[in-house]
Amino acid sequence: MADGAKIDTIFASETGSVSGSAPVSGVGSYVDTRSRVETYFDKTATRTWERLTSDAPVSKIRETVRQGRDQMRALMLSRLPNDLSGMRILDAGCGPGVMTAELASRGAYVTGVDISPQLIGIAKRRLAPELQGHVSFLAGDMLAESLGTFDAVLAMDSLIYYGPRDIRSALDTLTARSPQIVFTVAPKTPLLMAMWYAGKAFPRSDRSPTMVPHGPAKLARDAGGVQVGRVSKGFYISEALEVRR
Ligand SMILES: C[S@@+](CC[C@H](N)C(=O)[O-])C[C@H]1O[C@@H](n2cnc3c(N)ncnc32)[C@H](O)[C@@H]1O
Repeated sequence: MADGAKIDTIFASETGSVSGSAPVSGVGSYVDTRSRVETYFDKTATRTWERLTSDAPVSKIRETVRQGRDQMRALMLSRLPNDLSGMRILDAGCGPGVMTAELASRGAYVTGVDISPQLIGIAKRRLAPELQGHVSFLAGDMLAESLGTFDAVLAMDSLIYYGPRDIRSALDTLTARSPQIVFTVAPKTPLLMAMWYAGKAFPRSDRSPTMVPHGPAKLARDAGGVQVGRVSKGFYISEALEVRR
């Protein structure tokens, strides 16, 4: 995909399509959403994500997205101790593994799981040799029981495609396996909601996943969690939340 074309549904200005929040017509089941996500990241957008998460030059628009994502990663990491020695952490929806590598470099034992085997392949190839003893990369569902239990779960921009019911259910699943979950959602902003209405008027016909804006305050309240902070940098808008049990 040429630089400057659509990056991903999280990046508002480049897509023109988001879904509204619940009860939401047009938001499919968890399995249907996951299948769209897999097709998108494993086929359509693999090279785009590989480039965005590298040091390679990108367009000015994508540079804002890259900077915003760097800020969000730092914000999420600030919820954990600096020294993660001995901690077991799940990077849920790890993509090409940027967060995974950062966690491992701080001493954690990290499982990076992603539904896209292609992105997992990139993550494995990129991982520095000295971190390899600390990381397992797996292709599959972030909610799979076989992944086991953890001291913390980070899910950066990987739950953004799911409706409120699926997010609540994912949080129930993950909090049963870990005492701390830090994750992001797309917040309901005027821009994203305007795009949602536009998307309803012009429904998408392709297999791309659509992101679902949420009211972060309500989501945090319902899940018994807290709002951590929002990053709004150019074309990147995302909000971090945390649930502890
Ligand atoms: C926007 S990307 C973010 C990737 C990575 N967390 C980062 O910030 O660079 C979202 C990722 O979540 C993954 N994902 C979404 N739903 C998933 C699921 N149910 N199980 C595993 N991975 C999933 C996608 O395949 C994709 O790689």
